[in-house]
Amino acid sequence: MNKIEIIAHRGASAVYPENTMIAFERALELGATGIETDVQMSADGRLVLIHDETLQRTAGTTGWVKDCTYEKLRTLDAGSWFHTNFAGESIPSLEMLLNLVQGKRILLNLELKNGIVPYKGMEEKVIQIIQEWNMEQQVVLSSFNHASLVKCKRIAPDIRTALLYMEKLYRPHDYAAKLEASGLHPYKLAVTKEEVAAALAQGMVTYPFTVNDPAEMKMMLDMGVQGIITDQPDVLASLKMVQIR
Ligand code: G3P
Ligand code: CA
Repeated sequence: MNKIEIIAHRGASAVYPENTMIAFERALELGATGIETDVQMSADGRLVLIHDETLQRTAGTTGWVKDCTYEKLRTLDAGSWFHTNFAGESIPSLEMLLNLVQGKRILLNLELKNGIVPYKGMEEKVIQIIQEWNMEQQVVLSSFNHASLVKCKRIAPDIRTALLYMEKLYRPHDYAAKLEASGLHPYKLAVTKEEVAAALAQGMVTYPFTVNDPAEMKMMLDMGVQGIITDQPDVLASLKMVQIR
């Protein structure tokens, strides 16, 4: 039996519109032990939860998140693109999600989406809010922007970081150790059993993404991962080989 983290990718995004409060709330009801979400920044410096830098795909309008005020972003419909039943779901602020998970035994994985738009001051703002909410132990910061994660570590050494990557790396645990990261969040095809074990030997967890197929979930569990990032937390929770932590 593996005690693993069941991390809901953008909430329970297989059945609810990604990165909305209903997707986060339902993820918890479906057995998630963690939530992954994407952080971007509004024109007036508010942290908001939306995957894309632009609004076209999930918020029904043109333009960039970085060019809209928070007030404007809050008026947008982030549910209808998924299904008309979810019309009226909005783009949440970071604080709205903190409010949902604070005090619960839920891991919060905040992915800083600052690879395409280099949001100035994003690291400081995210960390300030985590500290104000006293959630340093509950949060893991991840990013494909590894320089940003090093910056986070310098600002707040007690907040965990995890490296996101797509391709197979050579000794990723050694690289991660150099960056003082606590975890590896590889694309599922970049995971190997040997590297999962080597990472664990250095005290680092491996949480691959985005694994939705039960056969692939089992393959990852056989490789010894400590958690899985999935759109379908209920499917992962129902596997016989999973013991929910
Ligand atoms: O954190 C894992 C995964 O979310 C990274 O890719 O594009 O889904 O944000 P993406
Ligand atoms: Ca993400």
